[in-house]
Amino acid sequence: MSAIRPAAVVVLAAGEGTRMKSATPKVLHEICGRSLVGHVLAAAGELEPQNLVVVVGHAREQVTEHLNRVAPEVRTAVQAEQNGTGHAVRMGLEELGGVVDGTVIVVCGDTPLLTGATLKALSETHITDGNAVTVLTAEMPDATGYGRIVRDETGAVTAIVEHKDADDTIRAIREINSGVFAFDGRLLAEALKQVRTDNSQGEEYLTDVLGILREAGHRVGASVAGDHREIAGINNRVQLAEARRILNDRLLTEAMLAGVTVVDPATTWVDVTVTFEQDAIVHPGTQLQGATHIAEGAEVGPNSRLLDTRVGPGARVDNTVSNGAVVGPNASVGPYAYLRPGTRLGAKGKIGTYVETKNASIGEGTKIPHLSYVGDATIGEFTNIGAASVFVNYDGQDKHHTTVGSHCRTGSDNMFVAPVTIGDGAYTAAGSVITKDVPPGSLAVARGQQRNIEGWVARKRPGSAAAKAAEVASREESAES
Ligand code: UD1
Ligand code: CA
Repeated sequence: MSAIRPAAVVVLAAGEGTRMKSATPKVLHEICGRSLVGHVLAAAGELEPQNLVVVVGHAREQVTEHLNRVAPEVRTAVQAEQNGTGHAVRMGLEELGGVVDGTVIVVCGDTPLLTGATLKALSETHITDGNAVTVLTAEMPDATGYGRIVRDETGAVTAIVEHKDADDTIRAIREINSGVFAFDGRLLAEALKQVRTDNSQGEEYLTDVLGILREAGHRVGASVAGDHREIAGINNRVQLAEARRILNDRLLTEAMLAGVTVVDPATTWVDVTVTFEQDAIVHPGTQLQGATHIAEGAEVGPNSRLLDTRVGPGARVDNTVSNGAVVGPNASVGPYAYLRPGTRLGAKGKIGTYVETKNASIGEGTKIPHLSYVGDATIGEFTNIGAASVFVNYDGQDKHHTTVGSHCRTGSDNMFVAPVTIGDGAYTAAGSVITKDVPPGSLAVARGQQRNIEGWVARKRPGSAAAKAAEVASREESAES
């Protein structure tokens, strides 16, 4: 491994990406929870390069801010004007002192499907063949737009010709330049000085370095990628969606081969950061994002979106939206629940239907089965919260906390006006508005007394269907007595 550890990886990300038609710079568009350039950096990182430089230009403040956040170890080089890929690499090398001894790998920031394994293979070929430059190529079904790989009768690469500069014979070539290269650092710096701009785009082409090095008598090699889809650059949103689909399939295939049941890969979407344990089951229409983890035997979906959520072993999460929650072992969530950050549900606990939770610690075996809001709360073990209850946590200015003990039975339609504490083993009556602490073991009743005004309907709504029904009922009652 250390033998192929390159001196530097230079990532080209200065271009504008006009065809994305976006206010967001192209390399910051996301697939599977990571920006395009983030994917490239992850693959490059597998080479453990001594230096990692990203060349930024267009929207460089935005791109640099992003890089500082997701990859603080990366250095940036500014290419103020986009004068071509050769110029961009020159700017990258300048950041490293102009000349780099050892292997320099160049990749583009818009090829999110490129894998570390492919880069390692390229790097290995480059070193074992003793090349001055090795280009990663691929056979494209449609090579339009790409630089074509020109080989001589012995099969040796002689040049790369850009589509815009190519004649029909060269345009018929389907082997293309992926834009990924391994260079000898010293020879690269030398050759870049000789690159000219007399081409259709008036740019310094990195690709011209191949011809220059070959003419100077150096070895020029090529490494053909096994799967052409891996090197596809993203230029528009159609390609963005295609790449997302391919990467998603790759991630799901990996999960399935590791023992996860994915019922419908076509409607299941995962981020690269999502992890699973064996025998997890994912039902259709499910999106798993961020640091979400699905433990052994847990079942999620259908129709759920889980972000940064940990689902414990054997737990069940059905038709749920969750962000930043921890679901305990064998617990049950949904259908139709909304878990917000800071939700912690204990083992065998239940957050049921039309229940929203936020910053709530819910103990083992505790159930909140129906139609409730639980915010800023601590609930003990084996408590049952009655249907249609609200933890009234907000007074219009500040948030307050509610504590409910263990083994409590709160009635339906309760309002817990925080700050308030319900002691262990306490009960509350249905329809109560709890504004005062309830001592352990007490029954709290906090609702108006019921008053029945007899004969009101007959007097106030005479002749109505209600009055007639009441009359029939009272006749039957007197007949029975
Ligand atoms: C380039 C290659 C082409 C190859 C294709 C693969 C050259 C001259 N052409 O063409 O042979 O088939 O990639 O996708 O190298 N960039 C900069 N600064 C610049 C110009 C470009 O940083 O001044 C960056 C872009 O942001 C992008 C990458 O370099 O990430 C490639 O540039 P792009 O303009 O897309 O080159 P292509 O015309 O696609
Ligand atoms: Ca391109």
